[in-house]
Amino acid sequence: MFEAPTIGIIGGSGWLGRSIALAMLDKAFVQPDALVLSNRSASHPFADSRWSQVPVTHDNQALVRRCEVVILSVRPEQFADLQICAENRLVISLMAGVPLEDVARRTGSRQVIRAMPNAAAEIGKSYTPWLVTPQVTDQQKTFALRLFETFGSADQVFSESHLNYLTALVGTGPAYPALLARTLFEHAVNSGLPPDVARRAAHAVVVDASQLIGNGHSVDELLQALISYRGVTAAGLEAMIAGGFDTTIKAGLEAATSAASSMNPFARSADTIEGPMTR
Ligand SMILES: NC(=O)c1ccc[n+]([C@@H]2O[C@H](COP(=O)([O-])OP(=O)(O)OC[C@H]3O[C@@H](n4cnc5c(N)ncnc54)[C@H](OP(=O)(O)O)[C@@H]3O)[C@@H](O)[C@H]2O)c1
Repeated sequence: MFEAPTIGIIGGSGWLGRSIALAMLDKAFVQPDALVLSNRSASHPFADSRWSQVPVTHDNQALVRRCEVVILSVRPEQFADLQICAENRLVISLMAGVPLEDVARRTGSRQVIRAMPNAAAEIGKSYTPWLVTPQVTDQQKTFALRLFETFGSADQVFSESHLNYLTALVGTGPAYPALLARTLFEHAVNSGLPPDVARRAAHAVVVDASQLIGNGHSVDELLQALISYRGVTAAGLEAMIAGGFDTTIKAGLEAATSAASSMNPFARSADTIEGPMTR
């Protein structure tokens, strides 16, 4: 069954849903006639491309009827208005902060995967941690891993708390490097550099030079070698560490983890939420 299932993406025209659809199509993981996208407007995300024949619907239940795998790529707060019965479907939720149990309860599926890609899916470089309900079969796990690998790499994790932590660490995608790039840029401009030079310099450090990490150089080896050199870099690193770099990063991760763990829109009103549709 999971050799070449029909795949539906609810929210398939959004930032993430569209990137994932494109990755699966470009890698021939799914054929255009075995993929269905939905959104409320039924606007086509690939109208002007070679994938314009991929069907788009505004009827989420029609998508579910047609697909063996249903990917939920709407925002967590939009999930409250989404009414589907996806019994006997593999449901893969990409929503930040919504636990497996809530996805299962609101979709009627017992075979649920919660995954947390990031925006780098757009360039095939997402790192995607994922978590499953006990009813997900080994065949479905193998399928899910292959799917996630169409847009990067992936690891299975085994608790909601680890997934919430990783939502804070990697679900944020380019956010933390972007903040570093902006701080470097602003300091360079404040030091008198022309903005164009400052922008290219910050980009060269955050985007280009960082590619040495993992490319034959571990993080620890690189830092140790640069600190032992006792040069300009060591002076910069030591001042940043003494100024609270570690503390600031840890505080940011803790705040983001706490947000990921408490953003579930269904947590406080579970007894007032309707169950999955039964049709
Ligand atoms: N973007 C990221 O980097 C990222 C990273 C990690 C996790 N995520 C998760 O991925 C999910 C999607 O995020 P996103 O950034 O792609 O959001 P987005 O760009 O706002 O996309 C949401 C999509 O859902 C559609 N939609 C909303 N309500 C719908 C409904 N009732 N039925 C069908 N389609 C509906 C929207 O289209 P219409 O408005 O036309 O209906 C839109 O295509 C979120 O839950 C987020 O937590 C995103």
